[in-house]
Amino acid sequence: MERLDKVISVALNMSRSDARAIIKKGAVSVNDRIVSDIGLRVDEKADELLYNGEKISYNKFVYIMMKKPKGVISASDGGSEKTVVDILPEDMKRKNLFPAGRLDKDTTGFMLITDDGDFAHRILSPKNHIPKTYTAVLDKPFDENVVTAFEKGVELKNDVCMPALITSLNDDNTVAQVTIKQGMYHQIKRMFAKFSIAVLELERTKMGGLWLDLSLAPGECRYLSQNELLLIEKRN
Ligand code: URA
Repeated sequence: MERLDKVISVALNMSRSDARAIIKKGAVSVNDRIVSDIGLRVDEKADELLYNGEKISYNKFVYIMMKKPKGVISASDGGSEKTVVDILPEDMKRKNLFPAGRLDKDTTGFMLITDDGDFAHRILSPKNHIPKTYTAVLDKPFDENVVTAFEKGVELKNDVCMPALITSLNDDNTVAQVTIKQGMYHQIKRMFAKFSIAVLELERTKMGGLWLDLSLAPGECRYLSQNELLLIEKRN
């Protein structure tokens, strides 16, 4: 049994306060009775919930886009360190949430947090070639050698990277947009380090075909819609 406002917020991908507002407005019914008690305990499997007369299907899993700030680690249990799951708003927390993929502690940007293991596996498996795009601020400009090497696949100590795309986002080639299809440890920093270029700032801006929501401030997050999930699995 869960509180009605929590069930509605998860099922309709809305904040807990929006869920409370629609319940108070009388737009939600439970087993054919309009309810206004936001704390009513409901059994989402047995009770029939309607919103404006339409059946609400309870989402088995949740998918959250966070703009990861610096200084938190992308894990669900960080020991003494703060994790991306720790900084979720209280009303979005639930059991078994984990970050789908790793970003370094000092990397910012698009972090997907979910409790759907199969989905996470699909988007992270290098076999599925889901691209991830980053903006990297560099300590010196990159040149044509770097472009060619990235496009061929940079050889790192024990790994050969899959071909990556790199374009410049400023006039002097010190801000790069890089798209990779793997998630190897410190991959982008190591790819640039091969050319003696240090990455000063790194932000993930896109997963699959879905861009980071620019209205999110560092540390903020929101639920993703079904269409946005489909975009993540798209390869462009
Ligand atoms: N590549 C890196 O070097 N760091 C990240 O956090 C992500 C990709």
